[in-house]
Amino acid sequence: MGLSRRTFSALAGTTALGLALGGSGAANCAYAAPTAPTGPAPGPPSADGRRHTIGFDRYSLVVDGRRLVVWSGEMHPFRLPSPSLWRDVLQKMRAHGYNAVSVYVSWNYHSPAPGSYDFTGIRDLDLFLRTAAECGLYVILRPGPYINAEIDGGGFPGWLTAAKGTARTADPAYLAHVDEWLTHVDAIAARHLYTDGGGTILLYQIENEYDAHVTEATGRDYMAHLYRKVRADGIDVPLFHNDKGRNGYWIPGSFDTRGEDGSWLYGFDGYPSPTQTPPDWGHFGIGGMKGGATASPRTPGFMPEFGGGWFDPWGGVWFDRKGYAESRRQRDAAYERRFYLTNLANGITLHNVYMTYGGTSWGWLPAPVVYTSYDYGAAFDEGRQPTAKLVPMHQLGHLLHHVPDLAKLDRAADVEAAGLKVYHLTNPDTGAQVYVVRNDGTQQVTSTVPGLGGLPVTVPAKDARLLVAGTVLGRRKVRCSTAQPMLSLTTGRQEIAVFTGRPGEATVTVLECPERPAVKVLEGGAAHTYEDGLLRVEARLDGLTRVSVSGDGTGNPLLLLLADDETSLRLFPHDTPSGPVLVHGPALVRTAAVSGKALRLTGDTVAAAALEVWGPRGITELAWNGRNLAVETTPSGSLRTARPLPGVGKVSLPALREGWRRRTENPESAPGYDDSTWRRADRTTSYSTTPVPGGQPVLFADDYGFHYGDVWYRGHLTDARGARSVSLAYSTGTQGLLMAWLDGRPLGTHRMPVPDNSTVRKGSWTDTAVFSVPEEARTAGPHVLSVLVRRMQHDQDGKAQDTHKAARGLTAVTFDGASPHVSWRIQGEKAPDAERGPQNTGGLYGERHGWHLPEYADGSWPAGSLPRADRRQGVTWYRTTFRLAVDPGIDASVGLVLDDDPARAYRVQIFLNGWNMGQYINDVGPQHTFVLPNGILRTRGSNTLALAVLSDGTTPSGPSDVRLTLLGAAAGGVPVVSV
Ligand code: GAL
Repeated sequence: MGLSRRTFSALAGTTALGLALGGSGAANCAYAAPTAPTGPAPGPPSADGRRHTIGFDRYSLVVDGRRLVVWSGEMHPFRLPSPSLWRDVLQKMRAHGYNAVSVYVSWNYHSPAPGSYDFTGIRDLDLFLRTAAECGLYVILRPGPYINAEIDGGGFPGWLTAAKGTARTADPAYLAHVDEWLTHVDAIAARHLYTDGGGTILLYQIENEYDAHVTEATGRDYMAHLYRKVRADGIDVPLFHNDKGRNGYWIPGSFDTRGEDGSWLYGFDGYPSPTQTPPDWGHFGIGGMKGGATASPRTPGFMPEFGGGWFDPWGGVWFDRKGYAESRRQRDAAYERRFYLTNLANGITLHNVYMTYGGTSWGWLPAPVVYTSYDYGAAFDEGRQPTAKLVPMHQLGHLLHHVPDLAKLDRAADVEAAGLKVYHLTNPDTGAQVYVVRNDGTQQVTSTVPGLGGLPVTVPAKDARLLVAGTVLGRRKVRCSTAQPMLSLTTGRQEIAVFTGRPGEATVTVLECPERPAVKVLEGGAAHTYEDGLLRVEARLDGLTRVSVSGDGTGNPLLLLLADDETSLRLFPHDTPSGPVLVHGPALVRTAAVSGKALRLTGDTVAAAALEVWGPRGITELAWNGRNLAVETTPSGSLRTARPLPGVGKVSLPALREGWRRRTENPESAPGYDDSTWRRADRTTSYSTTPVPGGQPVLFADDYGFHYGDVWYRGHLTDARGARSVSLAYSTGTQGLLMAWLDGRPLGTHRMPVPDNSTVRKGSWTDTAVFSVPEEARTAGPHVLSVLVRRMQHDQDGKAQDTHKAARGLTAVTFDGASPHVSWRIQGEKAPDAERGPQNTGGLYGERHGWHLPEYADGSWPAGSLPRADRRQGVTWYRTTFRLAVDPGIDASVGLVLDDDPARAYRVQIFLNGWNMGQYINDVGPQHTFVLPNGILRTRGSNTLALAVLSDGTTPSGPSDVRLTLLGAAAGGVPVVSV
């Protein structure tokens, strides 16, 4: 089959071209390495309207003929339902050294019903892709159709759980739905491909962790179908799949890619535990490791997902009930250095950290394994705040961008250093030597690494660093250094090289200088000697040490900057059309633009900070967030503001104790309630994987079009004489529950247990509630049995067994001592609200009647204050309004905290201005703080908070302590449009 013209252009200029035109698959094609230049990596991409080539060889991607190391972070637009804030996160990623963002696109988020697709408002994929391009990030697009991602149904829409066809196979009924989804996504994606400069999509993934049916026709045909479909839709960037671990599944040639194996990459993921020794599962097959990139020797080492944290289940069993703070503590900055540097040492040059900003699984988005917060312990927390984990990301990201030697590394002769694991690599073109030095022990180690000039190298316990020798930075060669390089650039008339390490560390940096240089220590303590053409600079890392080196016969003077970790995080290189700039000082530099003599910067400060800039010649003025600032020149060759930039002002938040209105609901439990408009539950067959019990109707909610949140049943019984008990079998995700009433009288509540280590990954929970039938109800009737099921979410389908199709809701109802005739009616959520979408609301009475919405008039509800302690089985709503007046120049990140005696059995759905910001389970936890994203939260104006409290009546139930909390604040931020 021939190549489309677009595909041709995507491949032209790289070896992949010859391969693709060969048309016979990888197996019998000669693969010649390209002569890719070792020049600097391409600058930040944009939607520049130009044609670009994206190819690769075994070392790296080759973009427009230049090597590119992909240093990507994962974020999910669907976990940040305020499009203005996408720019905030993407700018922060870019500033901190990431050059790409990887995104899942979740089918269920965009499709409330078959044939119905929504890409507007918070679902505006086009806007996200435009924003990423404006932020200078490449995009790795991952639209599934199956994504996993700890999201309801693994991304499959609710309606697909009740549809014909076996998912994740070549079943035509399933493929017809898939094609419809991909058609919609691809129509948008095709406008944003980097190949024609429409946008910055660099790579595109099909399926995810597909490890079933790998050798079967149905699996291969399915993958081939997806491949063909995506290509037919005009997607001409390289495609890939994310193998679940280094199994070697779906390598080039393993299924029919129409002879285009040269545009198919092999990728695999890994989530090692911090107690594990970092695995050698990359390209080089160190230690005889099979699989991984060694399974695909002609494609570059590619990890589409590598753990940047880990998720936390209900009850918090994995993190000792301490929540995501503990996830972040276990997978900290040192974890990142140990594991990610090991990946680089194993030839991984495409690296995506899952998650980099985790966000919120708001509404009914979370899969059964997780609760609302998807903070993930990531480098940016759920409230969009930077954490200490950014240090290695920032240092390595900028390093990979500025030091092209790292894009093409071969293994070099093994070297040994007592107490340390050393990976020795070399760039075959430049001869640069790279050492990744790792300490797997529990004590700090100082050792000599051969090749590093006999210098002592210290690595703290469970940490690692990357060191270089013989590497050219600018015009000088670094003979060796015990500090990790971070960047090298030339701006104005000088070269700048930055080296980093832990605070207090003693470092030695040896530079080749043909003539005796003039050396000046401009700041900090440093000693220097010159002998045999080598300048040796010794410095203990403390803040920023500045050493100026000139007159050594190399041309430009050099400013050597030695920065401790915290200081390195305040150094922001940016590219402008007039050349690179380096900014030092503020907490964040978002953008840098040159206009005439002025450098215009935008960014954030938290504390007051001096602003210092090294920029192109001719720049004499600075503007910060639109304000011109008085500047002075410094002996470092920089411009500095005469006065520090101010820090952030105070943000005050109102208390929420007063002004509440309260109303109870669940009229559905009363016998006289009119359910005539509810759907009759009388179907007899289902596509669910849960069997329909003999002689009973299908009661599974999805079969009646109810896919998210609570569902009500009313069974009309004709004869209950002799009935001793009723058994209600039901099926939910983790933490589901059921409450029942007979003729309006509570029968009781049944809850699924809190998961423990052995059950935490269980998606579907099934159990049977047995309630005794009160004496007085054992009559001819008629009687009404009302049942409310909080069914939680659909399971994911990680093993491709249609597990998302397990029933949700009641599954079977039987009586002991009688066999009354029962006719059932069912009611779940209303048709979704167009803006908030299908996962926002379930089927509670209040939700069906808009009690969560800001416009709802609650004036007739009785007033009250918190705390409350009621005892009832059922649902009670609380509403209040509060005003915020945050200074428009401040980005305040606000959370809502709920707290109470953990013995109290109740749960709360939190609605802010009508948006379902998550579920709090008071006696399960561990989540107490819920992030309220700006845009949904009005930081200047009035907000409506509605709490839907579900309590079982066994204990007094709240809410008790409800308050706002400040998760972070900065002067700066991005403009936020109300959602
Ligand atoms: C991976 C999967 C992701 C996510 C992750 C755990 O295996 O590809 O979608 O589920 O695990 O957070």
